[in-house]
Amino acid sequence: MKAMVYRGPYRVRVEEKDRPTIEHPNDAIVRVTKAAICGSDLHLYHGMMPDTRVGMTFGHEFIGVVDEVGGSVEHLKVGDRVMVPFNVYCGYCYFCTRGLYSNCHNVNANATAVGGIYGYSHTCGGYDGGQSQFVRVPFADVGPSIIPDWMDDEDAVLLTDACPTGYFGAQLGEIKEGEVVVVFGAGPVGLFAAKSAWLMGAGRVIVIDHLDYRLEKAQSFAHAETYNFTQYDDIVVHLKKITDYLGADVVIDTVGAEADGSFWQHVTSAKLKLQGGSPVALNWAIDSVRKGGTVSVIGAYGPMFSAVKFGDAVNKGLTLRMNQCPVKRQWPRLFEHVRSGYLKPKDLVTHRIPLEHIAEGYHLFSAKLDGCIKPLVIPDPA
Ligand SMILES: NC(=O)c1ccc[n+]([C@@H]2O[C@H](COP(=O)([O-])OP(=O)(O)OC[C@H]3O[C@@H](n4cnc5c(N)ncnc54)[C@H](O)[C@@H]3O)[C@@H](O)[C@H]2O)c1
Ligand SMILES: [Zn+2]
Ligand SMILES: [Zn+2]
Repeated sequence: MKAMVYRGPYRVRVEEKDRPTIEHPNDAIVRVTKAAICGSDLHLYHGMMPDTRVGMTFGHEFIGVVDEVGGSVEHLKVGDRVMVPFNVYCGYCYFCTRGLYSNCHNVNANATAVGGIYGYSHTCGGYDGGQSQFVRVPFADVGPSIIPDWMDDEDAVLLTDACPTGYFGAQLGEIKEGEVVVVFGAGPVGLFAAKSAWLMGAGRVIVIDHLDYRLEKAQSFAHAETYNFTQYDDIVVHLKKITDYLGADVVIDTVGAEADGSFWQHVTSAKLKLQGGSPVALNWAIDSVRKGGTVSVIGAYGPMFSAVKFGDAVNKGLTLRMNQCPVKRQWPRLFEHVRSGYLKPKDLVTHRIPLEHIAEGYHLFSAKLDGCIKPLVIPDPA
């Protein structure tokens, strides 16, 4: 089969690989019909995540058709159209039974912090991902769901990561009626977080980025008030000014490890690898939330420490909430919001790239060229 393969930082290509096979009776093999490239893939692509091995296939946001099932699979059959959450999880361990699917205890022998994620380096279990013609889906009775007949494929693929993750970011903010919510980052995850904040009762939603085309999308898609941080000496001071000098009630970091805005944070993280990621957006979040407020972190950071202003978070009495998204937990509510038309995930899709040209897709999305917000990857029918 054809699959995207990592060759080293900034180098991906399509290669012939062995088609995956059933390794356990509860596995399924899914023929991928649509995949996406996520901001998280960019951290891998840039060589920011440890133990990203040459030869690995990325892709944790994908849908497809069941091609083969193991002997114990009961909920899926060959030919079913399925959406697969980005988490690999067992469904019955201490954490899974409490809904913490992203923290499953049984799927990742390489780490004690994170569970399993498709195509996300050996720190997340070493599972090959879905930017390929076929993918092995372990615990096939647990993660995947059959795509409802009424649901569009492009909505379904974004429901396997970006959309539930943004929604989860707003949920972790524990937004109360009328509160001021600031979202750092206007990528797909930030745009979904901003749109979801209204659903949870926000009275004002503000989005910060430095890419004007994405801020325009935050206005049209998420009805947010927007500011470009490069146009202010200090974006934190500006946010204080426009919130009666109190700060926002809730701030959501949807930027993560590769935040722009500080030369030294960039050098010590991306270049020298002295930090697990540049905490610029996270520190701005801590500084711009009001005392006693909540900071929700869904931007991804590497396992090593980052220079976070923890003392200020303590002294301000902040609530800090964070996790990788437990995707399937969000589906029942999100299916209703998509069905009713309030959420139209596919409105964020800007590019549909054949798998053979995936290197171009990574380049466009990484360098934020050609108005790119969300690129999909389309494998040839096998
Ligand atoms: N927790 C989870 O489950 C989960 C799931 C999906 C993605 N993520 C993470 O969410 C983050 C965003 O993903 P995405 O797909 O939207 O990526 P993206 O790269 O498209 O978006 C990131 C945005 O942040 C902006 N940005 C950079 N520095 C900034 C700063 N200092 N302040 C404000 N904005 C800044 C960029 O210009 C860009 O628009 C990534 O870190 C990704 O790894 C986490
Ligand atoms: Zn992702
Ligand atoms: Zn589990």
